[in-house]
Amino acid sequence: MLNFSFQNPTKIHFGEDQIHLIAKEIPADAKVLLVYGGGSIKSNGVYDQVVAALADHTWFEFSGIEPNPKYQTLMKSLEIIEKEDIDYLLAVGGGSVVDGAKFIAAAALFEGDDPWDILAKQTPVEKALPLGAVLTLPATGSESNGNSVVTRDGDKLPFASPLVRPQFAVLDPKVTLSLSDRQISNGVIDAFIHVMEQYLTYSVNGKVQDRFAEGLLQTLIEEGPKALQAETKDDLEIRANIMWSATMALNGLLGAGVPQDWSTHMIGHELTGGFGIDHARTLSIVLPAVMKIKRKEKHGKLVQYAERVWHLTDTDEEVKIDKAIELTEDFFKRMDVPVRLSEIDITKDQIDGLIERLEQHGMTELGEHSDITLDVSRKILEEAL
Ligand code: NZQ
Ligand code: ZN
Repeated sequence: MLNFSFQNPTKIHFGEDQIHLIAKEIPADAKVLLVYGGGSIKSNGVYDQVVAALADHTWFEFSGIEPNPKYQTLMKSLEIIEKEDIDYLLAVGGGSVVDGAKFIAAAALFEGDDPWDILAKQTPVEKALPLGAVLTLPATGSESNGNSVVTRDGDKLPFASPLVRPQFAVLDPKVTLSLSDRQISNGVIDAFIHVMEQYLTYSVNGKVQDRFAEGLLQTLIEEGPKALQAETKDDLEIRANIMWSATMALNGLLGAGVPQDWSTHMIGHELTGGFGIDHARTLSIVLPAVMKIKRKEKHGKLVQYAERVWHLTDTDEEVKIDKAIELTEDFFKRMDVPVRLSEIDITKDQIDGLIERLEQHGMTELGEHSDITLDVSRKILEEAL
C-alpha cells in the first residue's frame, strides 16, 4: 500500500426527512446564500423544506446553475455576495450545483485578477467561504469531497481544494424519487466509474481499498437496474444504497493509498466540453475502451475484477478478462447509457479535435503510469468508435 494521509471532515446526515438539520449546522448569525439549479427543487418540495429550515436565518438565493456549471453563470453570484455580505453558501442540488457553489466559494475570496485562474492555471485556493450541501442527485461525490468542475466556452476544467469541501451534507434518498431515468442512470454510472478509476490500476496489496471498491461495484450493479424498473423504482432502500455508494465512491476513502487512473474522466470531459454530452454518458463510452487498450498494464486487476466482481471462474485469464469487459458493457446497456461514440453520432474525423483539446488542457500523460499519451488517447477514442 502507498503512504497516505486521510481526513474527511464533511458531516453527513443520511436518511429520510433530515433536511431540517441544516438549521443547526449553519451558524445562527451567518448570512446565507442558497444556491440551486434550474428549479427541480421547487417542483419536488426540497426548496420548501430548505426554506422552512432556514426560517431563523438571514438568507438570500441565487439560482440558474446549469448542468456542467458555467463560469459566466457562477460569476454572476459574486454581485449578491458582495452586496449582502454573504458569509455562508448552501448548495441544494446535484453535482453541478455543489461544484458551482465550490467555485463561487473560492471566487468570492480570490485575490488575483481572474478567478478563472483557479481552473486554467491551477492557482491554489487560499481562502474560501464555508459551504454546506443538500444533495438531490447521487452521482459525483461532490457533497463530501473538495473537487469541482467548471466549464467556460467548451473548456471543462477541474480544480480541487480542501477549503471547498462541504462542512456538512444532507443525503435524503427520498428526494431522489423525482429524478428522471436518465439522471438515475447517469448517477449510477458516474459512481461506478469513480470506483473503477481508483481500482483498475495495478495491485499495491491494498486489500481494504480493493474490497471496499468491489463491494461498491457489486452494490451498484445489483441496485442500479432496480432503480429503473417499474416494480422497484420507488423503493427507498434501493435509493439509499445507491446514494451512499455514490458518496463513498468519491469521498477520498477508496483512493487513499492506491494508484489511480482518471483518464476516462479526462477524456470524457472533452466530450462534454466539445459536444455537450452528459458527464456519465461520456464515461460509459470511454471506460470499456480504456479497459481494452490498457489491458496489458491492467492485467492483474482486470483478472481480480473478473473473479471478485463478476464471479468468473474460467481458467484462461484472457477469457476471464474478455467476459468481464463484456459484462461491464452489458451492465451499462442495462442502465441505458451508450457504450460507443457512434451511439452519440461522433465519428472518426472528430477525434483530431478531441486530441487537440486534450493537448491544450495538458492532458498528455494520463493514467496510473502517466503513459496515456495523446497517441494512446487517440487509440482509446478509436477503439470507442
Ligand atoms: O438544475 P435542476 O433543475 O436542479 O435539475 C437537475 C439537472 O437538470 C436535475 N436534478 C437534480 N436533482 C434532481 C433533479 N431532477 C429531479 N429531481 C432531483 N432530485 O438533474 C440534472 C443534472 O444535474 P447535475 O447536477 O448536472 O448532475 P450530476 O450530479 O451528475 O453532476 C454532474 C456534474 O458534476 C461534475 C460533472 O463533470 C458535471 O459537471 N463532476 C463532479 C465531480 C466532483 N465534484 O467530484 C466528480 C465527477 O466526476 C464529475 O466530474
Ligand atoms: Zn464523474
